[in-house]
Order: sequence, then C-alpha cells, then structure tokens
Amino acid sequence: MLPIKQRVQEAAAEVRSRWLLADAEASRLPEIVITTGSALGELVNQIVPGSFEMSYNGIPHMPSTRVDGHAGQLVIGHFGSPEGKKVVMLDGRVHGYEGHDPLTQVLPFLVANELCGGARLAIFTNAAGAVNESFAVGDLMLIKDHINFTGDSLVSYNEESDFGGENLDMTYVYTPEYRRILKEIAGQQLPLQEGVYTGFKGAMFETPAEIKAMRVWGADAVGMSTVHEATAASRLGIDVIGISVIANMAAGIEEAKLTHQEVLNNTAAAASKLSRLLSELLSESVSLSP
Ligand code: HPA
Repeated sequence: MLPIKQRVQEAAAEVRSRWLLADAEASRLPEIVITTGSALGELVNQIVPGSFEMSYNGIPHMPSTRVDGHAGQLVIGHFGSPEGKKVVMLDGRVHGYEGHDPLTQVLPFLVANELCGGARLAIFTNAAGAVNESFAVGDLMLIKDHINFTGDSLVSYNEESDFGGENLDMTYVYTPEYRRILKEIAGQQLPLQEGVYTGFKGAMFETPAEIKAMRVWGADAVGMSTVHEATAASRLGIDVIGISVIANMAAGIEEAKLTHQEVLNNTAAAASKLSRLLSELLSESVSLSP
C-alpha cells in the first residue's frame, strides 16, 4: 500500500481539481471538518444547498463505506446559512470492524484536513450506547475524554507518516474551551451530558459484563469509532469536539436485545438536536480559536 501521505495528497488533489471547477468560491478555504456518525447524515442538510459534493467512490484511495447509515460523500460548503462557517463534511466514515487499519480509518479526515490547508477545528459525531444509567436515549453527550479499547493504536503505524515516532500527549484531546462554549450555547434549552467515550472495535455490541467493566473504568458511553480520528486531529494540533448521540442504553442495562436498526432509528430521531447545536456553534457570531 502507498504511504499515507501520498494517499492523502493524491486524494485531496483529485477533490480539489473538481471543487475548483464547481465552486466559484473555492479560493475561500474551509476551516472546519465535521464527520457524521451512523444515521447522522441529516447534518448534511445543514450545508447550504448547491454546495460542492463528491462521492467517496470518485476519490482515489478513499475507503468505501459499506455500513447502513453511512452515505460516503464529501461536501464542502457553509453550515446552517450562507453566513455560517465553511466546512468540509465527511458524511460517512469507515471503521476498524470493516477491516480497515487505523491509518485508513483516519484517511478521510486527513484528506478533509488537507482541503482546509490545515483545519482549525474537527468535529466528530457518533452514535453511542449509554453506560451511564442516568443518561437517556436521545441525549447528546459531549465527549470529555476517551478510552481506546479498540486494541489498536494509530501512532504505532510508523511508516514515514506524521503519526509515529514520538510519545503523544493525550491530556487535552477534546478541547476544554470548546466544551465550555458548547455548554454555554446549549444552555437550558438543550440538555447536554458530558462524559467519557470508550471506543470498541466492534462490530458486535458489547457483552453486559464488558459494560459493567467499562462502568468501573469510568466510561459513560461506548461506540465503535472516533478514538483514532480524534487522536489524529490532536496529533496535528487541531482543536477537537466530540459529540455522541445516545442511541441506546448499553448491553445489559435493559432486557431487550440490541439491534443496529434501533441504533439507526434512535440516532436519526435525535439528529435535529445535534443540528441545532452545531448551527449555533458555526453561525457567524461565534468566533473560532478560543
Ligand atoms: N455499543 C457500541 N457501539 C454503539 C452502541 C453500543 O451500544 N450504540 C451505538 N453504537
């Protein structure tokens, strides 16, 4: 396989060449990358219509998503309104459980970052199961920290990429100042939980015993994504926001078995809350770079 840097540059060059033809405003670079989680494709409707879109299939080296609830398109445009911040949206992600190594999992993010000429902010959204029993299905949880339980490490993929080599500090992956801003925006109208996300490799849901163990470890939610992407962004010095939509109570909390369909339905039902929160964050009045 080609080195990650080369894959990213070739993919970004292809997107850029089409974007320049399609978008008269392409000289104005986006500053923010948003990655949508399962069934959160509705977020793409927040991008001003007529914006540039490209299917992952047309982008060299881009892994294709084959999971229900993940569309696989890259969109560049203003979020919420023509005055909203300009973003690259990755509508669909790839996962370790689809057989992708961590570098390939973060490749769409790296391509989007390249299109920004170095993003200022990365927003990762996902669907998650609640380990914390005080959470309810449909809640939004701001990620304050994560436990990487995928059994893999992005920065162990040394090649000549940007990700190997040194011991990376992970103390402030999820930028505290942005968590404060989001809590302020959410205020009283939009209850926001805050907690620790644990990334499992999947694709099976966890066992009840694993969920009990996670609770002892301090986890509030579990999912199958985000940890490598957030690590990549942090490694590149980019501010990170992580938001989980609580799609279900994790295994063993309730009697019913878990299904992917339930996750998709409950996540889609809560997506409008996430859209509202992000529209406010990305409106012209909020200034970036806290
Ligand atoms: N476990 C892991 N991933 C998930 C879950 C869950 O309960 N819900 C949504 N994604």
